Amino acid sequence: DWDAASVIDEQVEAIRATVGDKRVLCALSGGVDSSVAAALVHKAVGDRLTCVFVDHGLLREGEAEAVEREFVASTGVHLVVVDARERFLTALAGVRDPEEKRKIIGREFIRVFEQAARDVVGEAAAEGHPVEFLVQGTLYPDVVESGGGTGTANIKSHHNVGGLPDDLQFALVEPLRDLFKDEVRKVGLELGVPEAIVWRQPFPGPGLGIRIVGEVTAENLATLRAADQIARHELTAAGLDRTIWQCPVVLLADVRSVGVQGDGRTYGHPIVLRPVSSEDAMTADWTRLPYDVLATISTRITNEVDGVNRVTLDVTSKPPGTIEWE
Ligand code: XMP
Repeated sequence: DWDAASVIDEQVEAIRATVGDKRVLCALSGGVDSSVAAALVHKAVGDRLTCVFVDHGLLREGEAEAVEREFVASTGVHLVVVDARERFLTALAGVRDPEEKRKIIGREFIRVFEQAARDVVGEAAAEGHPVEFLVQGTLYPDVVESGGGTGTANIKSHHNVGGLPDDLQFALVEPLRDLFKDEVRKVGLELGVPEAIVWRQPFPGPGLGIRIVGEVTAENLATLRAADQIARHELTAAGLDRTIWQCPVVLLADVRSVGVQGDGRTYGHPIVLRPVSSEDAMTADWTRLPYDVLATISTRITNEVDGVNRVTLDVTSKPPGTIEWE
């Protein structure tokens, strides 16, 4: 029988044996995997773990706070927060092409994380404590996909990680390598990771940056965040969180349509709801949400979100549509 508590005990011992008295670094993304991996390593080595959270300003309402406050409060993890919101906005100014956005967001993320990692490594070294390990939230399906399916070791040898430069070398600590997603969630709950994080649906690394069709500006982000918060709230209230795989909410910032609100004509932007059902995100079907839930979401978004005068539903399966719009 699978049991979260004994998985935790085993991994804690394995991590302690490997890490010894060295230091460990972890990049938190706000997602399930990196959070649970960090919580597990923290249980094993306590304050010898330092987590870095790069706030790129592309998370949804409340998600940065869930990491910075709730996660820290419930796990006791030592967290360094880098506020890079302005930097990302500047780098993304004027960019409309989806691939270009992804490249910029990925590149800036590595640069900001690299600088933060150097600071942490440098400070620790000055105190005589080398940082030799980096936590990764790799799951069993990722291991199989990359062709390394058999081993149960939770440590891989030194190699260049995620685009970090050669002089920043770490051995990887991957305590979730043997686990499936549902098991990771159970381990997370057992470790006291906040439910908002444990049950978070898949969310792309480039975040809201690829859910704005058009330019990523502070204003467009605020509009999308407000609409997304309403959709998520209503889906949760209707008990649909675990029925749908995920529900991207997309702002068509480059599209306007005519509407009538109050006593005047408006010329606003559409919001797209993209609820999908899926097993693994490789294929997906659009979720037949109850009409009354859709109606509530639509009414609330058009009433409450400035600049939005229309809500539309994406009824495309994958293929031919991808789950995300960019
Ligand atoms: P698509 O849009 O390709 O998405 O059907 C499939 C799944 O992957 C997520 N996704 C991403 N996740 N970085 C990520 O970490 C990305 O750049 C990215 N793009 C898409 C998407 O949310 C869906 O779950």
